[in-house]
Amino acid sequence: MVVTNEKSVSEAIKYRRSVRVFKNEAIDEQKVKECIQLATLAPTSSNMQLWEFYHIVSPEIIQEIAKASFDQNAAKTAQQIVVVLARKDLWRKRVQSNIAHLKTQYGNKPEADYSKREKFALNYYQKIIPTLYFDFF
Ligand SMILES: Cc1cc2nc3c(=O)[nH]c(=O)nc-3n(C[C@H](O)[C@H](O)[C@H](O)COP(=O)(O)O)c2cc1C
Repeated sequence: MVVTNEKSVSEAIKYRRSVRVFKNEAIDEQKVKECIQLATLAPTSSNMQLWEFYHIVSPEIIQEIAKASFDQNAAKTAQQIVVVLARKDLWRKRVQSNIAHLKTQYGNKPEADYSKREKFALNYYQKIIPTLYFDFF
C-alpha cells in the first residue's frame, strides 16, 4: 500500500468532523478498502475480532440503508457506506483460529514442550473464553 500526503494522527484528529451532507463526487473504492483494512488493526477484547465490515457501493442498497437510517441526509447523499457488524456468534470460530495461530507461533511442537506462558495463553482460549462467551440458544 502506497500512501502519500497523509496527515499525522494529531492532524487527523483535529481535522475530523461529522459530515451531514456529502458532495456528489465519486470516491476511490480502493481508498475506502484501505481504510477498512486499517480499521481491522484496531484492538479487540481478547483479540476475538467479532466484527464484519460490509463495503456498500451499490446506489440502490445505499438508498435502502438511508431509509433504515431515518432518511438522514448523510446516508442519503453518501457515495459509499461501510456497515460494521458485531458478530458475537462467531466466538467459537475465533477461538479456534486464535488457538491455531498460537500453535503456529509456538512452532508446532508437542504440547508437553509448551512453556508455562504458552500453556496459559492456550488455556485462556480453551477454558476462560468459553465461560465468558456462551450461547443463549
Ligand atoms: C455513537 C454515535 C452516533 C451518532 N449518530 C448520529 C446520527 O445518527 N446522525 C448524525 O447526524 N450524527 C450522529 N453522530 C454524530 C454526533 O452528533 C457528532 O459527533 C457530534 O455532534 C460532534 O460533532 P463532530 O463529530 O462534527 O465533532 C453520532 C455520533 C456517535 C459517536
